[in-house]
Amino acid sequence: MPEMMRAVEISEPGGPEVLKPTHRPVPQPGPGEILIRVRWAGVNRPDALQRAGSYKAPPQASDLPGLEASGEVAAVGPEVSGWSVGDAVCALLPGGGYAEFAVTPAAHALPVPDGMDLREAACLPETFFTVWSNVFQRGGLKAGETFLVHGGSSGIGTTAIQLASHFGARVFATAGTAEKCAACAKLGAKRAINYREEDFVEILRGEGGANLILDMVGGDYITRNVKSLADDGRLVMIAFLQGPKVELNFAQVMLRRLTITGSTLRPQSDFAKARIADSLRDRVWPLLSNGEIAPVMDSEFALEDAAKAHARMESSGHVGKIVLRIS
Ligand SMILES: NC(=O)c1ccc[n+]([C@@H]2O[C@H](COP(=O)([O-])OP(=O)(O)OC[C@H]3O[C@@H](n4cnc5c(N)ncnc54)[C@H](OP(=O)(O)O)[C@@H]3O)[C@@H](O)[C@H]2O)c1
Repeated sequence: MPEMMRAVEISEPGGPEVLKPTHRPVPQPGPGEILIRVRWAGVNRPDALQRAGSYKAPPQASDLPGLEASGEVAAVGPEVSGWSVGDAVCALLPGGGYAEFAVTPAAHALPVPDGMDLREAACLPETFFTVWSNVFQRGGLKAGETFLVHGGSSGIGTTAIQLASHFGARVFATAGTAEKCAACAKLGAKRAINYREEDFVEILRGEGGANLILDMVGGDYITRNVKSLADDGRLVMIAFLQGPKVELNFAQVMLRRLTITGSTLRPQSDFAKARIADSLRDRVWPLLSNGEIAPVMDSEFALEDAAKAHARMESSGHVGKIVLRIS
């Protein structure tokens, strides 16, 4: 095992250019943890928020960016069962994915689905943990319900469309271009709404309202989401790309029995994340293994080009996931 590894760090808060190649000591797995030799790392919008200084790493996490990776188990810490050195793995990370090695709780690791390559597997954990826990566990989406996801062409959106369609929901998605809308429809959206040309409130109300909305936009979307919900509808917030503050008439929440909730994955306990992993292994990994659903891949960059990967993500030109090739 080498003592040092290649990595990319956030040299100071700022734009993509603050991501700088560096060398760091190889981390050691503690009790209950595994060390992963990282082959591919997924790039997520929260990495860009962390880089810009608005999403701090939790106290015990690596300061290096990177919330998901795939590769092989390089070492197992004490009290780990079920994983051996050399096993192919993909895992949710507390941070540190933009590096040749990363540690994570063994309970947050999942096998690479049958027939899937490591490049695709790196893109699963952050989006699938987030979508599964917010749409199905917190949001309680059921077959036959009407589901609206904003940012339909994002990593989160492409995952949410596929899973919700698979489990029998009527899926509506918003996106900012005709090309992105076509991608959403191809993944299973019954109706993709180009929000620059159409009003999603009008369309959803014409369909009887949404039973569940997954929103990452915030701002004026919050009041518009409330208007789009059916009676007893649920709104789940996972980000606020247009800001978290809004004036809202809560009488609507009472009169139409609405639920407004939300969550963010990273600060949750190791136990909570392990429970999400268990549920994914049982309910979703078989669908990835038999090819019924698959991550949508946008582009790949070398680790040292992480700044270019972030610029691509922040241009919003992408559809699906961006990955870093580590080794
Ligand atoms: N709560 C959690 O645990 C959690 C976990 C992971 C991710 N997230 C959040 O989920 C969102 C999607 O993550 P991702 O990694 O899939 O990112 P992503 O691929 O970059 O998706 C962001 C999408 O939001 C759309 N968008 C709408 N309004 C926007 C605005 N004002 N600024 C920028 N984009 C806007 C963009 O599509 P258009 O160009 O079509 O508008 C873009 O496709 C992010 O906001 C992220 O922070 C939350």
